[in-house]
Amino acid sequence: MSTIKAVRGTRDLLPPETALWNRVEQTARDVFRRYNFGEIRTPVLEATELFARGVGEETDIVSKEMYTWEDRARAASEKAQSLTLRPENTAGVVRAYIEHKLGDTGQLQKLYYIGPQFRRERPQKGRYRQFFQIGAEVIGPSSSGSESPLRDAEVLEMLAALLDALEIPRASEANDWKGWKLQLNSVGSSTDRPRYVAALREALLPVRDRMCPDNQRRAETNPLRVLDSKDEADQEIIDALPKIADYLDDASKDHFAQVLAALDACGVPYMVNPRLVRGLDYYTRTTFEFTVDVGLGTQNALLGGGRYDGLSEMLGGPRAPGIGFAIGEDRLVLTLQALEEAAAASAGEVSIMPKLDAYLAPLSPAQNAAALSLARDLRSSGLSVEVGDGSFRLKKSFETADRVARSIVILGEDEVAQSVATVKTFASNEQRKVPFADLRMALATE
Ligand code: HAM
Repeated sequence: MSTIKAVRGTRDLLPPETALWNRVEQTARDVFRRYNFGEIRTPVLEATELFARGVGEETDIVSKEMYTWEDRARAASEKAQSLTLRPENTAGVVRAYIEHKLGDTGQLQKLYYIGPQFRRERPQKGRYRQFFQIGAEVIGPSSSGSESPLRDAEVLEMLAALLDALEIPRASEANDWKGWKLQLNSVGSSTDRPRYVAALREALLPVRDRMCPDNQRRAETNPLRVLDSKDEADQEIIDALPKIADYLDDASKDHFAQVLAALDACGVPYMVNPRLVRGLDYYTRTTFEFTVDVGLGTQNALLGGGRYDGLSEMLGGPRAPGIGFAIGEDRLVLTLQALEEAAAASAGEVSIMPKLDAYLAPLSPAQNAAALSLARDLRSSGLSVEVGDGSFRLKKSFETADRVARSIVILGEDEVAQSVATVKTFASNEQRKVPFADLRMALATE
């Protein structure tokens, strides 16, 4: 019989790799707490219309990559509904903001999320059909300061703090630019953008026929997408196209200048990239991406985000400007693994698994109960402990213990009768008798 495998583009995460995922998430939660963010959890299923209206019908995500199905009615009173596995979390957060009338509090909402997203893309390293995002959104009525450039700069500075906390280096000459780089741009207000798109369409008309078929199509359907085309032959034409910076109104220009000034004040390095427009329709003003050249190959966008001052209104809600980002957690983990491997290689180490504090080896079934009870006491005091496998062969127990733990605790008939264990510590090769009452201390300090 053929075996059943995980669906293409999805993966199982196994120990010890999951320990790294947990470390990343714990560090993110800790940083978010310090910046006054609270956690939001929204469903993975949403009405398809949320993404059609929020992310945009013409985007690659909505037009090609969503897992969408007709959820049939189960009773006469129910209607069939088109549902979608969320391809991103910003639209869901803004839906929840509207649904729970969070704007009525008058307070700025600072929300973060960690969870799976789904896009039907062609799988490759760093690109999956189920992937995880760690994201945050700052949203509120204008009176709460949600439009302030201070918020843009705070979010970017928080990201720099998180990457610093995870010890991902900033790209510099010293590390051969193998670190993170922040690129940002302003795509203007909801009135600047249509003016720019019109200018872009006009500029594309005479040159369109000389571009690749993909760009010819984009020039028709979504001219902004031409700007992030990687097609080599088209680069010269693209470089000569109008720049969005020339179409920003004074308010947008001033907003962007204030974001940059605050980043300078906080010591966050950045590069302005006038071609950075991003692939989702809800963006206004500041947009950004962090890339990293370690461990990711071509999928080097570690995270992306920006401002979406009109999204709440696009979804039928009140005016609620906002800004946020989402980190590709899979890519963050790949980066950390590559950095760890590089560090171990340059130090000449083979990476070693963290070891348990102790391996308890009962010598016969008669000592099983005592072993489990002792393990319980040690575990409840915080030690990591494994109990022997029931083969009751001393040599095999020593071999297993040496692989997984720092010490072996032998429990034979005499040991249990006298409540004194035989302990061997592998690093020092020292073997001694330790009363059960002193075991915790003896094992913890090894
Ligand atoms: P996005 O750029 O579509 O933005 O995705 C953010 C990040 O998710 C990407 O930079 C990448 O690291 C990761 N990512 C995207 N697709 C995949 C994939 N197929 N496999 C692995 N990782 C992937 C958003 O999703 C916006 N909601 C971000 C945002 C929040 N903007 C404002 N607030």
